Parts: sequence; structure tokens; C-alpha cells
Amino acid sequence: MASGAVGTVTRGTTNTNRLRRVDRWIAAQPELRRTHDPVVVDLGYGASGVTALELQQRLAKARADVEVVGLEIEPGRVRSANQQLEAVRDGRTGFDPAARIRFALGGFEVPLPDGRSAAVIRAFNVLRQYREVEVPHAWERMRSRLQPHGLLVEGTCDEIGRISSWIALDAAGPRSLSVSLRLRGLDAPSIVAERLPKALIHRNVRGEPIHAFLSELDRLWRIHSPLAAYGPSQRWIAVAQGMRDSGWPVHGGRSRWRLGELTVGWEAVAPAE
Ligand SMILES: C[S@@+](CC[C@H](N)C(=O)[O-])C[C@H]1O[C@@H](n2cnc3c(N)ncnc32)[C@H](O)[C@@H]1O
Repeated sequence: MASGAVGTVTRGTTNTNRLRRVDRWIAAQPELRRTHDPVVVDLGYGASGVTALELQQRLAKARADVEVVGLEIEPGRVRSANQQLEAVRDGRTGFDPAARIRFALGGFEVPLPDGRSAAVIRAFNVLRQYREVEVPHAWERMRSRLQPHGLLVEGTCDEIGRISSWIALDAAGPRSLSVSLRLRGLDAPSIVAERLPKALIHRNVRGEPIHAFLSELDRLWRIHSPLAAYGPSQRWIAVAQGMRDSGWPVHGGRSRWRLGELTVGWEAVAPAE
């Protein structure tokens, strides 16, 4: 593009509240709490700036001085987000008129002024419209714009945010995969197969670690169906504990699991070469 923004314009579909699951995970990360410069980039916020505004609102509860920069590769979407921001500043929305947020043109090169780099980059529902072969380069570009202890959170979800998954990457590379699901009415956790990040979505076939991971989740969800009587969270907690007991490198504990979330070390689900 003439602007120098790296990447391709894709569909701008977005939705209020769609990214709540990943936002609450980011809010709990020590990297956000510890950074000296809490600048968080929302890369590819889409046709509306609403999920970037929600990100700022949610993260401010964990880190009051958080500053969100929404970047979009499509100039018209930057213009409309800035109009939306005027309404926020005028107090015509439910968002804080003084929210530390701005919108700008940018791509995978993640432009930030004054030599700053990002504490966190959230890139959601962006790479799913790229080809799988383009993922490593996009990851590399974005990771190079992180602070030394920064995090790139790259993932996908359904239209209303009931099915979500993301990969967290740091300076060393991919670190973990998280899945987060609405548990009420859930038939099988492998529903997330259709909303996996691009690096995994084509790998859900027999012989690939992600396939074994989803199959084991389904098996344990079935086995623990009697616990549904105590609520779906209890059933999911038993699934997460069962995964850990059988050797999967499950991160975190009950306080995360009860949300319908499960994070596993990347080494256990990375694509087979
Ligand atoms: C489907 S929307 C996702 C909106 C929002 N993140 C969400 O999850 O609801 C994807 C957006 O990413 C933008 N995009 C694609 N590649 C990009 C890049 N390299 N840099 C910045 N934005 C990009 C597209 O223009 C599009 O508006």
C-alpha cells in the first residue's frame, strides 16, 4: 500500500462484546501489569472501533494507565473509528470520554511514535483471512515490535464470541494456545476446531497434535457428563484437571478453568513438521 502499511485489506466484520474472552485473559497477564509503558495495540479492529474501545475499558481495570492504539490497514475504517472517538470524547457514548485510546493507519509493521514498542498486540480475526504460509512472516513482523517482555495475542472467534481461541507469542516464539468456550449448551469442545488460529485450523487431522488435543477434550467432556448436574463449569474443571493428569502441559488453575478457558503449552499442540 502507498501508506507503507504491511498486509492486505480484508473484510471488516466485528461485533460489540465479541472479544470479551480474550480481553479478560490479557487483563490477567503479568506482562501487562509489569510493563513500564502499558501501550496495547489492537491490530485490525475492523469496520468499527468498538472492540478497541472495549479492550481499553477492560484493561484499564487491571492497569489504569493502559493506552490502546487501534491500527487498521484500511484508511476508511480509520476515519470512521476517529468519528466514533469524537462521539466518545463528547460523552455521547457509554465509554469514558477520557479513555486513553487513539486510532491510526498501520499494518504488521505496527507503527508507534517516539520509538515506542508494544506491551501487548492483540490481532483478532485478522490472520484467518490470510493464507497459512503467510502466518510465520506476519508473526515475525509483529513480534519484532514488542517490548522485551511483550506479548502478541493472535486468534479467532465466532461472530458473538462464544467460541474463541488464541496463540500467545513472546520474544522467543509461540508460547501457548488458549481455548475459551461458552459452556452452557456445549456439545463438544472440538466445536473450536472451526475457530482455530490460522496456524492450526488446517492441521486438525489425524496424526497432528491439535487433533489429539481436541479429541482428548471431547473424550473427557463426555466422561464427565454426570458433573453437568453441578453446572457446566464443574464439568470443564474436571476436563482441565484430567488433561493435566494425563500429561498435557495445562497452564493456570480453577480460576481460569471455571470461565470455560484452557491454556496449554504450545509445544503440545504445535503442528507436526
Ligand atoms: C474481520 S476484521 C476483525 C475485527 C476485529 N479485530 C474483531 O475481531 O472483531 C479484520 C480486520 O483486519 C484488518 N487487517 C487485515 N490485515 C491487516 C494488517 N496487516 N494490519 C492491520 N489491519 C489489518 C482488515 O482490514 C479488517 O478490517
